[in-house]
Amino acid sequence: MKKRYKIAIIKGDGIGPEIIDEAIKVLDAVSTNEDFELSYDEYLMGGCAYDVKGTPLPDETIEGCLKSDAVLFGAIGGQKWDTLPRQFRPESGLLKLRKSLGLFANLRPTSVFDELLDASTLKPEVLKGVDLFVVRELTGGIYFGEPRGSDGVKAFNTMVYTKDEIIRIAKVAFESAMKRRKQVCSVDKANVLEVSQFWRDTVIEVAKEYPQVTLTHMYVDNAAMQLVRNPRQFDVILTGNIFGDILSDEASMISGSIGLLPSASVGGKVGLFEPIHGSAPDIAGQGIANPIATILSASMMLRFALNESKAADRIEKAVKHVLKDGYRTKDLSEFNAKEICSTSQIGSIIADCVANI
Ligand code: IPM
Ligand code: MN
Repeated sequence: MKKRYKIAIIKGDGIGPEIIDEAIKVLDAVSTNEDFELSYDEYLMGGCAYDVKGTPLPDETIEGCLKSDAVLFGAIGGQKWDTLPRQFRPESGLLKLRKSLGLFANLRPTSVFDELLDASTLKPEVLKGVDLFVVRELTGGIYFGEPRGSDGVKAFNTMVYTKDEIIRIAKVAFESAMKRRKQVCSVDKANVLEVSQFWRDTVIEVAKEYPQVTLTHMYVDNAAMQLVRNPRQFDVILTGNIFGDILSDEASMISGSIGLLPSASVGGKVGLFEPIHGSAPDIAGQGIANPIATILSASMMLRFALNESKAADRIEKAVKHVLKDGYRTKDLSEFNAKEICSTSQIGSIIADCVANI
């Protein structure tokens, strides 16, 4: 009897439904010759949930995710909902879901496919061989700190980190580094912020448990510069919520397209896997979105939530293969393309390839 995993699917807004469909195609292809099968239950979140239910995160979505083995999520948001009060906006739904599931660790790997070295705005010689891993704290910091508000004369948010929050995310970074090149660079703004000095001191304490790992520290402004100056210097980047948000978007350009980068949010009851890009409403429904970031997020789901690393490897190999063979979606059409594919064409090509790996 095959193992059976229950996957909660949240397609979301914009290109979300298109890219998720392709990830499901690839998951189904990979599972046919594995010892497991997947079942999918769909839930609403984001603007589409607001339109139907009057809230960006209905309770049944949280409950459905909690009953599942993992959550695969597309993207949310769009201009249509940008003027709503904050609590009704699609982004609030995602933030509440992360918090409800306890997903304090956001893992964002960035690497470079050799065939796409020219796709980045950075020089190929700067990029070749880059392989870095951002560990972003996801349920604390200025995103969630109290007090927060606005009274028309002033507006304020608060950056707070407790010692326990720093310890647990630092451990994730050190554990990740142990499986990689054993370097952690902790990014903060300790020259200005008390919360960052506390972060730094705490990370230094945690590092004592990992004597094989080299720990360095960098101010966030310098890190932003170093990421484009010499990204190969980084292995694991450990940072807080807002710095990680900004630096991971910056890091995505190293790979040439934000449409390539997956992420995993873990640490809680059920892991959530999503591309790092947004809902791209401008190209929604045209069949030109790049589903690879979502397909690679599905691979991270297999690896981190379901412990099916062989299947995860097979998906990664298939993606590499297909890119090597010159299949490209429109975002990458100018870079060593043999054939320009629609969203669903490239999904099918990757699915066919994975079935034979
Ligand atoms: C991300 C996004 C979210 C964030 C938004 C949509 C709330 O930018 O996942 O990086 O800021 O965390
Ligand atoms: Mn972001």
